[in-house]
Amino acid sequence: MATLTNTIHSLSKDFFKKLEGITTLSELEALRIAYLGRNGKIAQLMPALKTLSIEDKRNAGPLINELKQKTHAAFEEKKQQLALQKTERELEADNTFDITLEQLNCSTGTLHPLTITYNAIRNIFLSMGYEIITGKEAETEAYNFDALNIPQDHPARDLGDTFFLDVPGMLLRTHTSPVQIHAMQTKELPIAMAALGRVYRHESTDATHDIVFNQAEGLVVDKEISLADLLGTIELFFRSFFNKKDLQIRVRPSYFPFVEPGLEVDVSCPFCKDGCSICKYTSWIEVGGAGLVHPHVLQAGKIDTNTYSGFAFGFGIDRLTMLKYSIPDVRLFSGGDLSFLNQF
Ligand code: DAH
Repeated sequence: MATLTNTIHSLSKDFFKKLEGITTLSELEALRIAYLGRNGKIAQLMPALKTLSIEDKRNAGPLINELKQKTHAAFEEKKQQLALQKTERELEADNTFDITLEQLNCSTGTLHPLTITYNAIRNIFLSMGYEIITGKEAETEAYNFDALNIPQDHPARDLGDTFFLDVPGMLLRTHTSPVQIHAMQTKELPIAMAALGRVYRHESTDATHDIVFNQAEGLVVDKEISLADLLGTIELFFRSFFNKKDLQIRVRPSYFPFVEPGLEVDVSCPFCKDGCSICKYTSWIEVGGAGLVHPHVLQAGKIDTNTYSGFAFGFGIDRLTMLKYSIPDVRLFSGGDLSFLNQF
């Protein structure tokens, strides 16, 4: 027993002496294997323990356990110390990394309010089974006006209202409606498509008008499409957009050359019950235009008007965003003012 106790003590002394002198992780690993490993010096004490009397085992057992715990703990501590030293040495050697450098002030960005609305509108259309099409911002006069039944002498065709490009017959689209024609000409029937994108108008800017803005357009063409389908769709759309289950819609007769009948769409004010400044105390807010696709437009889209009919609706994404977030001036969207943008 006395010899075993001595062995335990000298083992412990040796281990700690060697540990002190170790400067690298690989030396440490060698020490671990020699002392703490499965066939290491501490494990080799076990056969000697077995030969002792029960009494002596009771004394020597705890000593061996204590040795195991002490050496393990010291090993772990040394390992952490050496790993830290190694990292510090590496960082010092890497002269491209300056740990004294001041931290850059990089705050997390936010989505632009128009992007938030874009995504929301996209998702509503997708949930209704519509295909999303972006279309092209540079259009031909034929798609932007002619195919949409817009007469030659319509004021929108005026140089003062439309940005015409240097290429003859080309312009910056003034609305997303021409995407309807591309869809009708290229997609298989039935069609349920939505176009979201930038449009351009040559006009003076004020709080509610900008020369570049965004529109969304929905088009459905199928057999037996009726006004009821249009009204139900618009109601569902705006209930989802304003997240209001009891939102009502109201339509008024209006004129757009590409639809017949043409409608102006109002929604019951989502922000009040009895009138507020947003709805100008009328309890209704105008949100867009709609109607049943004019036969001339279906024909331009190469669609058989005897079998098929369709509905279309369009609205301003900027206007809807302004309504949703009470934004007073459309020019804030392109102003790049961070104190405005960071609110979203
Ligand atoms: N394109 C129209 C505009 O820019 C909006 C519009 C009205 C789109 C009626 C439609 C519609 O699809 O049916 O003012």
